[in-house]
Amino acid sequence: MNEYWKKESWKINTQEALPYLPTPITVIESIFKFLYAKGLIKKGQRLVDLGAGDGRVIIYASEFYSLISLGLEINENLIKTAESEIKRKNLSDLCKIKEDDLFNYDISEMDIIYCFFLPSNYTYCSHVIKMVKSGGIVINIRWDLKKFKKYWRKSFKIKTDEHFPVYLYIKK
Ligand SMILES: C[S@@+](CC[C@H](N)C(=O)[O-])C[C@H]1O[C@@H](n2cnc3c(N)ncnc32)[C@H](O)[C@@H]1O
Repeated sequence: MNEYWKKESWKINTQEALPYLPTPITVIESIFKFLYAKGLIKKGQRLVDLGAGDGRVIIYASEFYSLISLGLEINENLIKTAESEIKRKNLSDLCKIKEDDLFNYDISEMDIIYCFFLPSNYTYCSHVIKMVKSGGIVINIRWDLKKFKKYWRKSFKIKTDEHFPVYLYIKK
């Protein structure tokens, strides 16, 4: 297999295109409260965070909602941070972080897809959006995904704080 994502030059480029910006914990709490209130979340569902950073979203989802969570990340230091927190919280059965390319990973079995994409990434993430299964939930932080509106059955804007509006979509 061509493991291009292990090349240093590639890692630098992809992290320049999508740098590390963590979602504040209060925003994560609001998202999960919203999902729960709308009946959109159930124990045992599968969540993927595309560019998982320090693993805060996958850890939260497994710790408080018993979701089976996977994080894809390219930054080795962030992966190590997430791994040690997963271990410290005894969540290894439910929660994993993996070194892989978010733009080329098969997410077709996932129930909830958590993204923090920038508008400049939209060209590269269009095939990611296409891959989401029918009924799958896509969450994007800060920027809407209305460019992909033909794919959505329903959409919501979750009010958090003014710097972090959250957009939630259900795939047709
Ligand atoms: C905006 S941050 C979001 C972090 C986390 N999801 C959160 O909300 O706290 C995006 C993350 O994507 C990672 N990243 C960038 N390109 C990537 C790629 N091609 N594959 C996997 N991760 C990538 C960055 O290293 C960064 O940690």
